[in-house]
Amino acid sequence: MASLQASCTILSSNTRSHSSSTQPLSAKPSYLFTRPRRSHHFQVSCDAKKNVETSQGKIDRRNMLLGLGGMYGAANILGNPSAYADPVQAPDFTKCGDAHDVQSGDALDAKCCPPPADKIIDYKLPPVKIMRTRPAAHRASSEQVAKYEEAIRRMRELDKTDPQDPRGFTQQANIHCAYCNGAHDQVGYNNLDLQVHNSWLFFPFHRWYLYFYERILGNLIGDPTFVLPFWNWDNPKGMTLPPIFDNSNSPLYDEKRDPNNRGSAIVDLTFSGSTDSLQLVANNLTSIYSEMVRSVSTTNDFMGKPYCAGTNPSPGGGSSENGSHTGIHWWVGTKDRTGPNKYNEDMGNFYSAGRDPVFYCHHSNVDRMWTIWRDVLETDVLKDITSADYLNAEFLFYDENKRLVRVKAGDCLDQRRLGYDYDRIDLPWLNYRPPKKATKAKVSNISDAKTAASVLPVNLKETVRVIVPKSAKGKVDEQLMLENIETDSTKFIKFDVFINDEDDKIEELDRAEYAGSFAQVPHKSKNKKGTANISLRLTSLYEEIDVSEDDTVVVTIVPRSNGEDVTIGGIKIVPVPARSS
Ligand code: C2O
Repeated sequence: MASLQASCTILSSNTRSHSSSTQPLSAKPSYLFTRPRRSHHFQVSCDAKKNVETSQGKIDRRNMLLGLGGMYGAANILGNPSAYADPVQAPDFTKCGDAHDVQSGDALDAKCCPPPADKIIDYKLPPVKIMRTRPAAHRASSEQVAKYEEAIRRMRELDKTDPQDPRGFTQQANIHCAYCNGAHDQVGYNNLDLQVHNSWLFFPFHRWYLYFYERILGNLIGDPTFVLPFWNWDNPKGMTLPPIFDNSNSPLYDEKRDPNNRGSAIVDLTFSGSTDSLQLVANNLTSIYSEMVRSVSTTNDFMGKPYCAGTNPSPGGGSSENGSHTGIHWWVGTKDRTGPNKYNEDMGNFYSAGRDPVFYCHHSNVDRMWTIWRDVLETDVLKDITSADYLNAEFLFYDENKRLVRVKAGDCLDQRRLGYDYDRIDLPWLNYRPPKKATKAKVSNISDAKTAASVLPVNLKETVRVIVPKSAKGKVDEQLMLENIETDSTKFIKFDVFINDEDDKIEELDRAEYAGSFAQVPHKSKNKKGTANISLRLTSLYEEIDVSEDDTVVVTIVPRSNGEDVTIGGIKIVPVPARSS
């Protein structure tokens, strides 16, 4: 698959695309984060035309993408003009099949095709009459909670009165299953799954999904002001299951959750397993700061890697998707590997996650993190992906009037155009940049560190320590690349990365040596294997651990979940891509 990766080009982007709809918030909040330098990083795109445009035009490009003679025949391509389109197209509902079983060999009812429709309407955003403010779930008013419960109760009722009504609770949950567990093929590529996770489609897909879900709920109770709350897990006050979901008499309740993670149990976003509440909170805040700011070098580091028509699904999720987003799925889902919920239902598996009402409240916060990253944080990374392959990617949803509508990723970049915003509250994680280390680590004390050449590819059944050369001495802007991370996609995967970590206190992430993490929610795809690449920026970490005069560092990779199902193919340190300013 190396050729698929190689076919993506690096495009230089000098300007932030500021249309009137993308202006930052009018009032600058007091927690505004600033950096002195504002310049723009390169963006990665799938658009290979610029590289390979020849006298034979796009066929050449397609041949290159597919490595012809491999999966597809030229006749198939020539006979299917839609194969030329670059962005991922909306699925063809008439060709929907069963979602794949979550674990091969096991019989599992994973039929989640949406009901058919006569026609597809290109969705036009209605003018925004009232700007609605989504509240934090733990601060929602009793009136808001009562409306929410009533709306979900009516949505569940539709399951009984008309199971084919696309607004019903199960039909809404099935949308997620179908887009995530291989029920849809990519249009024009019937041996490639359509997958909306682990790539740049993650944020726009879920934003649109919640948009229609929220409109349906509002419509069911006749209230156009209805808003979904967000699970404020990035604030210590929101770091428990929101109490409104924890009442077994409420329609917001779901019995398929980890019984240990109810009541006052503190969220463990990082799979740290710590039993110390304060340490859990510190780990959570540190990892959010890392995935929002510290480890991010490029737009794709945060937004996810390019995924286009004809390219493999799951090229790599963004830092927030891989991080806190996955952490909540894991924390809420069941952990029973042998009982009736052995696939970590409901939240712990993509095929079933939409059956838990807390999913939508969790994703409301995931969506809010995108808003904060894009509109509030001033970092030196370009905020919007400008590639047409991203902006024109399409999805289908049913709206509140049961119409099947087609939407584009590029039409949802500003949530205010969709008629909602978020309650602007504190961002305590902005203070969680780890402290500078008092004394420089003696790298020679780190036992078992081996050269990359002698260990790669390396399996993570146990902690690995690898000596990796820096690209230069002095004050440098560098990133650590972990390449060809092969995983069993049906398992929860999590590992953490540290640099020059002689203390080895792996349950504590709030230390300068912590470089970032990788995590994945179980899902099934045609070939059980997932392959991803991640990069973790080291610039501020270097300052904190004082390595400017060193030639090499020791990278420690600590498995947290199913390490035996992870193999890393490449580890290197490279300069952060050149940028213009
Ligand atoms: Cu579509 Cu949190 O998953």
